[in-house]
Amino acid sequence: MLYAKNASSLEGSATLLYTAKAAAMKAAGQDIISLTAGQPDFPTPKAAIDAAKLAMDQGKTLYTPSLGISELRQAVATRWSKVHNQNFSPANVMVSCGAKHSIANMLEVVVSPGDKVLLPKPFWVSYPQMVRRLGGISVYPQSSGMLITGDDIRVAAAQGARGMIFNSPCNPSGLVNSAEMVKDVAAAVKETGIWVISDDIYEDLYYGEGQVPHILTADPSLRDQVAVITGVSKTYAMTGWRIGFAIANPEWIKIAGRIQAHSTSNPCSISQYAALAVVSGFAETERIEMYNAFKRRRDLICDLLEKVQGIVFEKPQGAFYVYPRIVTEKGINSEDFCLALLEKGGLGTIPGSAFGNEGYIRLSFAASDSDITEAVKRLNSFLERGDFK
Ligand SMILES: Cc1ncc(COP(=O)(O)O)c(C=O)c1O
Repeated sequence: MLYAKNASSLEGSATLLYTAKAAAMKAAGQDIISLTAGQPDFPTPKAAIDAAKLAMDQGKTLYTPSLGISELRQAVATRWSKVHNQNFSPANVMVSCGAKHSIANMLEVVVSPGDKVLLPKPFWVSYPQMVRRLGGISVYPQSSGMLITGDDIRVAAAQGARGMIFNSPCNPSGLVNSAEMVKDVAAAVKETGIWVISDDIYEDLYYGEGQVPHILTADPSLRDQVAVITGVSKTYAMTGWRIGFAIANPEWIKIAGRIQAHSTSNPCSISQYAALAVVSGFAETERIEMYNAFKRRRDLICDLLEKVQGIVFEKPQGAFYVYPRIVTEKGINSEDFCLALLEKGGLGTIPGSAFGNEGYIRLSFAASDSDITEAVKRLNSFLERGDFK
């Protein structure tokens, strides 16, 4: 059978692959610690569960408008108007089945076959595949730094890039573009006129002062060419509920809404009511508790990793990942390294190749203190033994 070229050229998600492999080994009884998780290891806040139960009891279990229930779109508009000092209305908002779905929908509106899309490196695994699915071409920054600069954007735009997906805090590095850097990025976006999909899914897990620097704060006049992507998955430990938000100019939302209407229709009605509860502020105690736990674990893992010979890393300023480079004379193949680390060292991690970097591995600190401590011990012994050489 002949399958469509774009669809059959898509690659699977390496993060899911390595996560599944570590889980399978553990389930088979092997002594495995897994730092592969891309999700909070906390339960969903009670307010969301109660709202979902109530929605079911009240029969809110049928189709909703495909863009999402109006109360939730309004709540999102209100909350993120405050975050970005804008006056968003429900017309600026679409609710989808997770932030991943929001990105895919918004991307589909702006990428035609052959269009170039700039992806800062390291990038989240799904971006290049999402671009490829639409027949677009991913291009990467000219400079090799871990954070994109305005000049990278100018060069890419001069070479034909029409847009960019921006992700700060970044998965996998946990790094954040400083206010100064975001200003520089915003200036280049303005100058070149490219569109931006700003993937802000980790915005509430920022360990610096105040709010994470944002393109719209740096230059509010960019609001028509920037789509903000956010959601409840990471902030409220709601990855399984599949609710994400896109906030953008009404035309972009309207076209994306048609794509959604002809594909998935509305996201799960019950999940939307659960999301409404947390977006409206009924789970702030849990949000802050989880935030504090992640911040403390970030410090714990970094303090432990500081003592490990053979790696270099920058302390993450957001999300729940740390992204060390393995320093050896010959360099490493990150997939071989992660496989050996799992099989011989009993530690599950994700290879940097999944995020566009060779030589790196991603460790998630969405794990207990004892798992984090044991994981770093295992990494250290593995490096000392040189099992990967
Ligand atoms: C950078 C980034 N964007 C988007 C998502 C997707 O979030 P959701 O689970 O809401 O689809 C993830 C999830 O891992 C992510 O890491």
